[in-house]
Parts: sequence; C-alpha cells; structure tokens
Amino acid sequence: MSRAVCPGTFDPVTHGHLDVVTRAARLFDEVVVAVGVNASKSRLFSDQERVAMLERACADLPNVRVVAFAGLLTDLCAEHDAQALVKGLRGPGDYEYEAQMARMNAHQSGVDTVFLPTDPRWSFVASSLVKEVAGLGGDVRGLLPDFVLEALTARLAERAG
Ligand code: PNS
Repeated sequence: MSRAVCPGTFDPVTHGHLDVVTRAARLFDEVVVAVGVNASKSRLFSDQERVAMLERACADLPNVRVVAFAGLLTDLCAEHDAQALVKGLRGPGDYEYEAQMARMNAHQSGVDTVFLPTDPRWSFVASSLVKEVAGLGGDVRGLLPDFVLEALTARLAERAG
C-alpha cells in the first residue's frame, strides 16, 4: 500500500492546500494530512481548530485522514509507514526552501519528497497573505472554503475586539 504524508501548518487551510491534498489522494492509496502543532509559533487558529477544519474540508476524500503532529516529520512518516512526503510548489521561491527541507528529510531517513506544481488558480495563495489581506478588510472570498472564510472572519473580528 502506498502512503504519503502532506504536512503543513494550515492556519487556515486554503484551496491551494486542498488542491494538493486532492491530487495526492489520486496518486497514493492513502494520504495522511499532518497538521503541525509547534507550540512556539503563534497561530490564529488552535491546533484542534486547524485539525477540525482539515477534517471537514477533506470529508469527501475517503483515503485521506488528518493527524496533528509535533517533532520531526521523518519520525511521523516512519510511524505511519509513509514512503513519501507531498508538497505543493507555487514557484521558484517555494522550491528553494522546500528542496532544502526535502534533502534534509531524505538525509534523515531516506523518505522522498514529491513536489506538485500548484494549480495556477492558487499560485498566489498563502495562508499568511490571506490572513493579512482579510485582516485589513480585503476580499479573500473564493480562496478558501466558505466555512473556513466564516471562521476566519469571526476570529479576526474577535481579535479586532
Ligand atoms: O505550512 P508550512 O509552514 O509550510 O509547514 C511547515 C512544516 C510543518 C511542514 C515544517 O515546519 C516541518 O516540516 N516541521 C516539522 C519539523 C521538522 O521535521 N523539521 C525539519 C524539516 S527538514
């Protein structure tokens, strides 16, 4: 059985992420979406909220499951017997950073990384930019699932106080 891990912070999940997960689910028998829960980084959404949003967004993908993870990605791959990591690449900037991580992960455990070129529709979409634009009153409709947009709008309003 082929199994891949799709890791990320997903704060929050966007259509760019979901495009990569959906395509990975066609390539592998099983896909484990791994939500990083690094306590040292500040997030807009809690670990539980991010996992719950991924679970809802992937509910129609039967071979995808969502887990929270801390620690080394290579340990998670070993724990789930995953042969590959899958990452989306929006452009050359992503490649520089991702290739270095891919080589480090391969050095650690031999796990390989499969890069999927981002669908051009989502090539400018990053969670950080979505949060910034939405926080300043910009329009991010269509870049993330409607229920995530609602949660984002509510959270930003809470924070604005
Ligand atoms: O959404 P992001 O910021 O691209 O996700 C980054 C993530 C969670 C994939 C990355 O920070 C990661 O791999 N963290 C796990 C810790 C680890 O294994 N670090 C070594 C990477 S070579």
